[in-house]
Formats: sequence, C-alpha cells, structure tokens
Amino acid sequence: MCGIVGYIGNKDCVDILLDSLKRLEYRGYDSAGIATVKEGKILCRRCQGKLKKLETIIKSEPIAGNVGIGHTRWATHGVPSDENAHPHIVGNIAVVHNGIIENYLSLKRGLEREGARFTSNTDTEVIAHLIAKYKELPLEMAVSEAIKVLRGSFAIAVLSSKEPDKLLAIRKESPLIIGLGDSEYLLASDAPALLPYTKRVIFMNDGEIAILKRDGLLIKDFDGNVLKREPMELPWTPSMAEKAGYKHFMQKEIFEQPQAVANTIRPRLDFKKRCIHFEYFNLSKRQAEGIHKIWIVACGTSFHAGLVGKYMIERICGIPVEVDLGSEFRYRNPIIDKNMLLILISQSGETADTLAALKEGRKKGAKILGICNVLGSTLTRECDFLIYTHAGPEIGVASTKAFTTQISVLYLFSLYMGLILGKVNKEEMDGHFKNLLRLPHLMEEILRDAHKIEALAPEYGRAQNFLYLGRGIYHPIALEGALKLKEISYIHAEGYPAGEMKHGPIALIDEDMPVVVLAPREKTYPKILANIEEVKSRQGRIIAVAEPDCTEAIEAADDILIIPKMDSPLKTILFTIPLQLLAYYIAVYRGTDVDQPRNLAKSVTVE
Ligand code: AGP
Repeated sequence: MCGIVGYIGNKDCVDILLDSLKRLEYRGYDSAGIATVKEGKILCRRCQGKLKKLETIIKSEPIAGNVGIGHTRWATHGVPSDENAHPHIVGNIAVVHNGIIENYLSLKRGLEREGARFTSNTDTEVIAHLIAKYKELPLEMAVSEAIKVLRGSFAIAVLSSKEPDKLLAIRKESPLIIGLGDSEYLLASDAPALLPYTKRVIFMNDGEIAILKRDGLLIKDFDGNVLKREPMELPWTPSMAEKAGYKHFMQKEIFEQPQAVANTIRPRLDFKKRCIHFEYFNLSKRQAEGIHKIWIVACGTSFHAGLVGKYMIERICGIPVEVDLGSEFRYRNPIIDKNMLLILISQSGETADTLAALKEGRKKGAKILGICNVLGSTLTRECDFLIYTHAGPEIGVASTKAFTTQISVLYLFSLYMGLILGKVNKEEMDGHFKNLLRLPHLMEEILRDAHKIEALAPEYGRAQNFLYLGRGIYHPIALEGALKLKEISYIHAEGYPAGEMKHGPIALIDEDMPVVVLAPREKTYPKILANIEEVKSRQGRIIAVAEPDCTEAIEAADDILIIPKMDSPLKTILFTIPLQLLAYYIAVYRGTDVDQPRNLAKSVTVE
C-alpha cells in the first residue's frame, strides 16, 4: 500500500508535495519521489529510503513547478531501489500508482515486443509505457485507452509535459481523494495529507477519472460520461493529525483513547428513551428477528475486535456469531444467506481482504454492516449499513484507538439489538449506560499510571519471546497484546487461550520467557491462578494484568498492572490499555521505528 499526492495551482508545489507525502509516510516508506512540469519539461527526484532522504536530494538538486505528483512506496513488485521508486517517466509522461496491476507481466512482454525499454521491475512502469504509447492522442484519451487493458487495483496520478495545465487522477479499488482549494486542486491517497490545505474533498469512486486544472475540475467515468460529484467537509483539523507534543503518533493515539471512546459512545446514547441509536444503521424488530446468524469478518487488530464482539453479541442478544479473517473468508465458500448479517470491521475501510469479503457477502445476499473509522472510505460507501468509530485520524501503523472504539461500537450494537429483540430491558439499560459513561474516566485512571509500565521496559525489553494468556473474552485481548508487541518491537510474541497452555506452549516456559496473564476476577479466575502457578513452577516470569481484589494473582506475579474494577464486557478495553503501553515502551526502549515499523503499512490495500 503506497501514498500518492498531487497538486495543480499557482504556487510552487514541491514543498506542498513533500509535506503531503510526510503525512502519508505511514502508508509505506521503502522509497519516495516527486515529479513536476516546468517550462515544457518533466523534472523528477526519487530515491530508495524514507522521505527525509528525498528532501536532502531536493535540497542539493532543487526542482520547481506548479503542477506535480509525488509517491511514497510500500514495495509489492520490485525491491525497494532508486530504479523502482515512483514516479515512473516514459517520454513526456510521469506516473505514480498505488495498487497492483495483476496482468502487468503480459502487458510488459507485449510492450517490449513493440520496442518499449523498461528500466524497473515494477508493475507501475507498464502504466507509463501504455499511456506514452498513445502520445498522438490528447492526454485524457491516451489515459482512457491505457486503463482499458489494466486488470487489478489502481489509484494513478498522471502528468504530461505536453499538457502542463492538467493533472489526471484515476481510481479503481485503491483510494484517491481530491482536495478543492482556491484556484488549486490537490490529490491524496488519504485525508491527513490534505488537511493543512483544504477540508473540502471529493472521495473518488471506483471507475472514475478526474481531470484537474487550475480553473476547474471534471470527473468522468471510464466510458467518458461526465459525473456530478458534490464535495464534502472533512470533520478533522490538521492538529488532529499532528503529534501534539507526543513522541510518536502511537503514543498520542493511546492517550487519546478516552476521548475517542467518549466521542464514539456519547452521540449514540438516547438518555430520555434509555436506548441506543445510530446515524446510518437501524433495523425494525422484524428485520432484527430475521437475523439468524451474524458473521464478523476483519483483519489484524480489527479481527481481534470482532472476536470480542462475538462474546458481547452472543451474551447480550443470543444470536450465534462466527468470526473470520478477511484473507480466509472468501476462499472457504462461506454458507451465507439473506437471513444473515455480515459485519465488516476496518479502521481504514480500504483493506483489500476485508473489501473482498464484502463482495463475497454481497454475492450471497447477506445484509452488510460496516464498522469503520475513515469517512468516505470504500467500505463506508459500499455496505448497506454503517457505524463510524469516531476515533479521529489514526496515523500510527499499530492500531490502538481504532481497536478500543471498535469494541465500544460492538457493545453499543449488542445493546441496540438486545433492546429490539427484547433481551435487554430498560432497567438493565440503566446499568449499561452507567458503565458506558464511566468507561472513559476509568481509561484515564490507567493512563495516569503509564509511567509504572514504562519502568518495566528495561527489564523486559531484551526478551526474545513473550507469551500472552487470556480466557474467554480476554483471549482476543491476549492476541491483540501480542500483536502490538511483535509489530512494533519485533519481539516474537504469541497470544494463546490460557487453557491451551498445557497442550503445548508450556514447553516454551523458562526464565527467559515473560508471560503476560490477563486475570480478571471472573468465573475462570481460579483457572487463571492455576495457569500462573504452572508458569511459576517452570521459572517463568509473570506480568499479571488484574483488578485490585485479585490478591492471589497480585502476590504470585513478578510484576502487576492494576485495572480499575468494572462489571461489564467493556472491561476488555481496560485490559487492553496496559498491553498497548507495554508494547509501546518496550519498542521505544529497543529503538525501533514505532510509528512506521519495518515491512508494515497502515492499510493493506493489496491481497
Ligand atoms: C494492527 O495494529 C495492524 N496495523 C493491522 O493488523 C491492521 O489492524 C489490519 O491491517 C487491518 O486494518 P484495517 O482495520 O484498516 O482493516
């Protein structure tokens, strides 16, 4: 998944392109480059490595222009290298691209037979050659001809030195947003890149070509029909996408969680009627009764939220729930019909595997509810129902506030359905409302003790392996804690159902294997105590996450992370925060790139 930017207007665009790319670097940072048109020539600077290396090159060999495109790359075809860095230039055409051209090899062979000379191993260079092939045609027609033969996903920006008064944008499956300024237009793969310049945006749809000129914007479909698209106002400010004094975006986003959860919960609570309401999701009693099964499909952290949602929905609504990975779902020929609700959870709304599940569910007639954090993203525009998490922009590659707001939404969803189905009564709702309103304050309480978790980093930061154990609804929290640690500290970490430890993982336990145990005072608490003893009797070190009255766990553990008391499945959110902080401080201790961990990207828009 890469980041694309573009600009056309009356200002010099180089600094604007670089600044916009900086806000997209979380999408990939294997290489970066920009191209402009000046006095009938294409000027280009590009290199392997992060943006700051490109900035150094541009400082020593400046370029200028008031129309330009830029790219920050997450390599899919062709290793990170200067030659494979975008933009790719052929003749008077410059191209940047996010996505995968699935038939690029056959196209490349055909072009080579026609005499084309390739200088990279990327699929993107094929696009530049295809457009350049039609150099006799006006740019818009050349692009239309070229994209006819492309298969796969692509968001493309195109410049031509022959037509310097325009910038073309093409979207099929990979996201692309147009920013509307004052006699200027911008392009970006994601909203944070546009925020300092404009909040008026148009999210391009699949199958659209946009022709951006200083004096106007035209959007057409791939058949050339002009489309009317109304701009919308982004509800974010630039500062929301900045670090606001924190060391990393991830740290800021961990500490923003009480506010993010409050922003997600409050607008949905109807205090007068003691019920829940959603802006873009409502079912009649008959429709709700018609749902015999719920499928939840997601990837990574969002999948873990789905696993928590299963416990909530089955416990509160009594509807069977199956949770699946986006990358598996469409290949298992899932047994789905119109009496099922398919819930797709995605922070970005652009994850290819999750969007593929949407297509599969649509094909089989399921009703589709999206739970998403990014306004106007593909998921939000293609599902039947929608519930936004109001987490604000999540820039850190490791998902934190998206996860806790997703759990909040799944809880609200469970109450909403439970009320309609008569499984929850008004008195019980009083208790639920109380917990929902207390939650952000309890989260604040945990964050106030973050320094105690920071102090553990030197002791555990050199471990090579971690095991995270949890039971029931806390098993997904163990999985999420392990994912956080491994993806930002590069320590191998495994989340496991605590009851399964004796069936294998116990062989790993020794003094070098820290074990994080989630020990809520619930019905399986005695079993968790037994697991703690099993680990200790093999010299394992225990970090227990527990409530104040879990005295046995507190005494047995080597280190303890205390969680305020709460009698609700929302307590899973409280158990999550110390695990996020532990992963964050260990990663900082190990000096890894917390916001842009190696090999990762914020939103995986390829399969
Ligand atoms: C989580 O920290 C990772 N960044 C990753 O697992 C992520 O959750 C996954 O790629 C799904 O992304 P989405 O929520 O945007 O669909």
